[in-house]
Amino acid sequence: MTFLGIDLGTSGLRALLVDADGTPIGATERHYQATQPHPGWSEQDPADWIAALDAVMGEMRAKYPGFADLRGIGVAGHMHGATLLDKAGEVLRPCILWNDQRSHAEAAELDVIDGVQALSGNIVFPGFTAPKLVWVRNHEPKVFDRVAKVLLPAAYLNYYLTGDYVADMSDSAGTSWLDVGARDWSDQLLDASHMRRDQMPRLVEGSEAADTLRRDLAESWGLKNNVTIAGGAGDNAAAACGIGALNEGQGFVSLGTSGVLLAARDGYRPAPETAVHTFCHAVPGRWYQMGVMLSATDSLNWLSRIAGASPADLTAALGNDIQTPGEVRFLPYLSGERTPHNDAGARGSFTGLSTGTTQADLTRAVLEGVAFGLRDSFDALVATDARLDKIIAIGGGSASRYWLKLIATTLGVPLQLPGSGEFGAALGAARLGMLAAGEATPDRLIKAPDIQDEILPDDDNAAAFQDAHQAFRRAYPAIRAVQ
Ligand code: XUL
Repeated sequence: MTFLGIDLGTSGLRALLVDADGTPIGATERHYQATQPHPGWSEQDPADWIAALDAVMGEMRAKYPGFADLRGIGVAGHMHGATLLDKAGEVLRPCILWNDQRSHAEAAELDVIDGVQALSGNIVFPGFTAPKLVWVRNHEPKVFDRVAKVLLPAAYLNYYLTGDYVADMSDSAGTSWLDVGARDWSDQLLDASHMRRDQMPRLVEGSEAADTLRRDLAESWGLKNNVTIAGGAGDNAAAACGIGALNEGQGFVSLGTSGVLLAARDGYRPAPETAVHTFCHAVPGRWYQMGVMLSATDSLNWLSRIAGASPADLTAALGNDIQTPGEVRFLPYLSGERTPHNDAGARGSFTGLSTGTTQADLTRAVLEGVAFGLRDSFDALVATDARLDKIIAIGGGSASRYWLKLIATTLGVPLQLPGSGEFGAALGAARLGMLAAGEATPDRLIKAPDIQDEILPDDDNAAAFQDAHQAFRRAYPAIRAVQ
């Protein structure tokens, strides 16, 4: 008996096959792009996700004999994306993604409507789903009139897999249409953005069975059994399941395209005034909170393109021992920012450049800028009473020791590094597939990975990094005044 976790990411789709104990057997991956038709916009064609899924499943079938014994699938997806379907289930326009800032005016209008923050538990950020639909209503009314269903990316994949419109609560919490405390759609919230409950998918918990795999897909993939499809999850809730963060004090820092600092919560304690996100977890009766920065590895990737050197080469040039922050400072707001500023119009900047500034100085400043942005999220989480005693580091950026040491020092908290292997959103999604198929219970399955290494804060540099973080905080209003 095997299970599959699918992580529909911003840069590619990854599938992970696990055995009956939840131990990874193998993974396959395909990449795709996001397009930026205008500055600040970010879109993807859902057909690219399906092409990637079909390719990944073909490779799974060819490589891993155990794939034929599949019993359950869980899908995790990048959050907040608006996939609009007509009444025949056809996609009406490209999906508008989480890091698209076009609907900032609509978000600001929704955010001040009485009851919206109280019911949704969150600021209406421009990247969330509801303001995107208001934007479509304002700018593409013919499309808006034909919208029969709005699906998040993971729910769109659920639809492809099952033929059913069904979504989980962790992902749906990022729409601004969910009453996050009650774990149900809110007619009041839907009404605020001119939407209706019948345009929403059916809701299930992430670890519940959503439906079964379409017969024609099961046959074409050579599967022997009925396959249960789990509710699934937003990618951050799935990653929390992958690293075993269910309880207070447990959490992670994710250095992906976005930077996320997440803390699991055993109750619902919204704090929109701090700009943290408060969302349902992918298992019943739990929530989580997170601070989100929009450009983490995206900042380093940007520098890498400009410098003509790979991110790995840029960070390797710094060595392993962190240096005291220098004169050069970087504000990592290349796509605007969520926590703590909620400012879609903010942009990145370098300050303190001189004729002596080197490429390595720029790299250091970029890594420091992301670390300081995460410190802002840390402070916001602390203000909500979320505890983060130890933090597991995940995501592509965690390959850089220098960056991890910098973040541990800036946060003043040790970072734990899992051993090699699987522990991200794909593993979390596979675990949800197992739970939905009735083959495990959350408390026994959702465990922390083996920790290979612990990165301790550098006490000698702690004060210098506190000072530099304060300077970073002062730089934002100053730069914003002239942007
Ligand atoms: C979370 C968010 C991002 C995406 C990226 O609110 O927008 O972390 O989920 O995958």
